[in-house]
Amino acid sequence: MIPRKVAVIGAGDIGVGWAALCASAGWPVAIFDLNPGTMERASIEVERRTRALVALDRAPESIVERGLTELVRAQFLSEAVQDADWIIEAIHEDVGAKQKILVGIEQQAGDDALISSSSSGLPPTEIFGRMRRLDRCLVTHPLSPPELIPLVEVVPEDRTSAASMNRAVEYLRSLGRFPIVLKKSIPGYVVGRVSAAVWRECIDLVLRGVISVDELDRAVSLGPAIGWAAAGPHLTYHLAAGEGGIRSFTQHLLASFESWWQQLAHWAQLDPEEQRALIQSIERAYKGKVEFLREARDRRLSAILKGLEQARAPSGSESG
Ligand SMILES: NC(=O)c1ccc[n+]([C@@H]2O[C@H](COP(=O)([O-])OP(=O)(O)OC[C@H]3O[C@@H](n4cnc5c(N)ncnc54)[C@H](O)[C@@H]3O)[C@@H](O)[C@H]2O)c1
Repeated sequence: MIPRKVAVIGAGDIGVGWAALCASAGWPVAIFDLNPGTMERASIEVERRTRALVALDRAPESIVERGLTELVRAQFLSEAVQDADWIIEAIHEDVGAKQKILVGIEQQAGDDALISSSSSGLPPTEIFGRMRRLDRCLVTHPLSPPELIPLVEVVPEDRTSAASMNRAVEYLRSLGRFPIVLKKSIPGYVVGRVSAAVWRECIDLVLRGVISVDELDRAVSLGPAIGWAAAGPHLTYHLAAGEGGIRSFTQHLLASFESWWQQLAHWAQLDPEEQRALIQSIERAYKGKVEFLREARDRRLSAILKGLEQARAPSGSESG
């Protein structure tokens, strides 16, 4: 299922990523941002990030160029939203600002348009709280950068129709994404909660002087994360104890995990001094190399994705 036109509202990192992803599929996209300076930068960034997908072998050049000729840099919200089948809200994570722009979107949108928010974890009942029609509203939470990482969390509002859920899933699949549908909303959704839990422990280990920032990053990206890229945490442990599977794993190792769980960081706030120390450590570790590191990260990401795609069984019988 392919929309006739997609509107992306908000042209920060995520809006630009959505626009690049849709343009790379040859879909007509209109992008709009309230800030004219951001619009100017975004216009260049969408082209750069869409064409980067060709260089990374993630999209064919002819389709990308077709998508880019149809890219509209809208001057007004109404221009962006007009005739769009799918409207993606991607403004900053502020529930009041989202409510306000969504009311504006609803007023301008066609009756059949699907409306999704890119929120990282706000409850859909709050995001869409001021709208009249909720059957066509839902969250499609991407990961950064959205044009590369295929997972998208789809989170319904209580009144989202099954048809709208199916349509969002179909659109995302047509874009080569892996939509994961949550059965119910929870703050932070699934990805945010798992990421927040792991990141808290990572911060703690750095602030307690156990390991440096770059060694910690390597410990995760070449350790559990590479295993999780091939199989999720449950399947990883089910496969980690021979024939006995998870039963044997829990017999041998659950007690160790329980003793670590008792000692894991459980704070819920970083005080200003800790924030300063964390920021300084991260900036020192990656000083002056951010653009180079971003390109290197994108090359590695596309290589991992290609490897996973090639290794996936055609029957789709594998899981994890
Ligand atoms: N950055 C991430 O890693 C990430 C990942 C997944 C989801 N998200 C979510 O995606 C959304 C966007 O995140 P981001 O990092 O791109 O934010 P951002 O702050 O970089 O960009 C938001 C953009 O929206 C524009 N904007 C604000 N109000 C507007 C309005 N009323 N109309 C039009 N444009 C408006 C701003 O000018 C800005 O350019 C947030 O909800 C965020 O939580 C972020």
